[in-house]
Amino acid sequence: PRTIYLSRHGQSQYNVLGKIGGDSQLSESGEQYAKELAKFVHTEILGLDEDGNFKDPENRVVPHARLFTSSLRRTQLTARHIVHHKCDDGWIVMRPRICSSLSEIHAGAFDGFTYKEIEEKAPEEFKRRSDDKLGYRYPRGESYLDVIARLDPIIHEVERQRDPILIVGHQGILRIIYAYFVGDTRENAPFVSIPLNTVIKLTPRTYSCDVERFSLNK
Ligand code: G3H
Repeated sequence: PRTIYLSRHGQSQYNVLGKIGGDSQLSESGEQYAKELAKFVHTEILGLDEDGNFKDPENRVVPHARLFTSSLRRTQLTARHIVHHKCDDGWIVMRPRICSSLSEIHAGAFDGFTYKEIEEKAPEEFKRRSDDKLGYRYPRGESYLDVIARLDPIIHEVERQRDPILIVGHQGILRIIYAYFVGDTRENAPFVSIPLNTVIKLTPRTYSCDVERFSLNK
């Protein structure tokens, strides 16, 4: 594959409240990140200058770059300022491919809870997850092993891509995608750090990937 860029959605209203799951919108800080991310994509990935024109018209990356989001609002809102290029009528927005398989690990019965609420209301479930984060399945929800299985087809699709690709996703699913490409184990994957306000750039090498992190925090 070509270069793969990974980004979480901008901070959501649920992030602010410490709640997991849901389908909330972005916080003010999340909105700000969406704009920063668009600037990053325009200059770093698409090769546009500040006015939206190609810096090197002979050697366009666009329209070959690919953009993927999940089907949750927070990823689509985060990607919405990313444009393809400028034309006489204005900016052409880059259409994301919306994949429900990229949506966050499903917390089932605990969707909308904070971790503290889970610990207080269901301490035995909380402990089971602490003891086995990879294998623990939320009641009526998913485990990381379930997420690994659901991401399998999309990971193989990403692997076959010959164009740069940006995935705007979620902490849980990006951990799995990241671990796959850098060659980390399934056991480590649920603990990989995927911070907000950060773009992770993976440049594939023969057996692994070079990793660069761009903090877009202002
Ligand atoms: O559910 C939300 C989180 O992004 C996943 O985090 O697996 O560390 O609880 P966690």
